[in-house]
Amino acid sequence: MDKFVIRGGNPLVGTIRVSGAKNSALPCMAAAILTADEVTLENIPQVHDIETQRRLFASMGAAVEMHEGERQDRITIDCRALTDPVARYEIVKTMRASSLVLGPLVARFGRADVAVPGGCAIGGRPIDLHIKGLERMGAEITQEHGYLKARARRLKGAHLVFDKITVTGTEDLLMAAVLAEGETLMENCAREPEVADLAALLTAMGAKIEGAGTATIRVQGVSRLHGARYRINPDRIEAGTFLIAGAITGGDLIVANCKTEHLGAVISKLIEAGVRVEVLGPGTVRVRAAGRLRAADISTEEYPGFPTDMQAQYMALATQAEGVSLVTENIFENRFMHVQELVRMGANIKVDGSTATVRGPARLSAAAVMCSDLRASASLVLAALVAEGESVIDRVYHMDRGYESIEQKLSAVGAQIQRMGNVFAAREQADPVAV
Ligand code: EPZ
Repeated sequence: MDKFVIRGGNPLVGTIRVSGAKNSALPCMAAAILTADEVTLENIPQVHDIETQRRLFASMGAAVEMHEGERQDRITIDCRALTDPVARYEIVKTMRASSLVLGPLVARFGRADVAVPGGCAIGGRPIDLHIKGLERMGAEITQEHGYLKARARRLKGAHLVFDKITVTGTEDLLMAAVLAEGETLMENCAREPEVADLAALLTAMGAKIEGAGTATIRVQGVSRLHGARYRINPDRIEAGTFLIAGAITGGDLIVANCKTEHLGAVISKLIEAGVRVEVLGPGTVRVRAAGRLRAADISTEEYPGFPTDMQAQYMALATQAEGVSLVTENIFENRFMHVQELVRMGANIKVDGSTATVRGPARLSAAAVMCSDLRASASLVLAALVAEGESVIDRVYHMDRGYESIEQKLSAVGAQIQRMGNVFAAREQADPVAV
């Protein structure tokens, strides 16, 4: 099990490049199920969740080929030979987003057996709204032995109003609607940029969609879709994580290959906290810490509000800000797993229900800490970059799910970070009392 060893205290200086968005790549890969032609996606991040999705497609009989390029990786998906519309538990249990294949499988093949995704560290993560929408469109869905069994002759367009705003729920049902008979009107949709990214791909494949990226999406179903080549968005959460890395280390960092229009809430909050943020162009932002950081509250909301996927990273920054910052998590019921680990490094944080009170600035000292989920991992790396001494961060496989070559990217701008794999484990074996 790999660990990161990070020695804190180095300001990050230079240019760091953002990879493609994992949360765009996953639904866009699922969209390839909707056609018998080849779909090529560019700017695909080499992260573990993409590999998991590739394994899922292979298990269903589809062909997925990665082409590693100099500056961009692309993936070609051919679902012509997809013969087994079953998403098995062994894969789904490692990545909930596998449930994104449910809508497209039913839309294209009229049937799907998808393992009910379990919860994860941050919450129960039900998919009842995905199921409800498909049933409204005429699917019959039963649950047996841990699998959702969905059957439908041909889905019919319907008027869907989401009880709660759900990103993958919007994406799953959008993919179901594009091949359904007639018109589908979807209201109270998620407005995250990843939804618009998916809709742009589907449109390139011949779908008829209006309103993607807004709360109301209208779809005219078509009888078939054709292949396409599409470049996905840069990852706005990776970009936000790097902005905080530059700020927390007191560096001077240029974050390149991002989309600044997707970072509004994050950039305005960093400015409120006293960080110098300069948009140098549509895809480039410069971040510098100008003097002391100021406390500023955040409350996570659906897009375009402050993203829940940036809450843990912002909390690490708040530990260094002068004053009291209130961090309120409104989207998931258990997304404070990073708090206790930050406290072990010397942070002053108290949790009461969905709000964490962060008092700063706190002098952080290096410690042995453990990742619990993807964004909590990023929070611990950010804290270790500013903590005094050498931190050891365990279970970094959580981070590898959504951050491409993170140690190479951070080292290239001055971070002292090393990945310790078997060597480290062997040393531990030799001295089992080692921490
Ligand atoms: C997507 O998850 C992202 N994942 C998450 O990113 C992100 O945190 C989340 O949206 C919120 O922005 C992908 O896009 C692959 P939701 P998703 O459905 O779609 C409840 C990361 O770190 N809900 O928008 O699963 C749910 O419990 C990951 O990259 C239902 O009750 O999240 C939650 O409280 C973590 N029933 C709220 O809605 C449903 O059927 C929002 O969840 C669906 C959701």
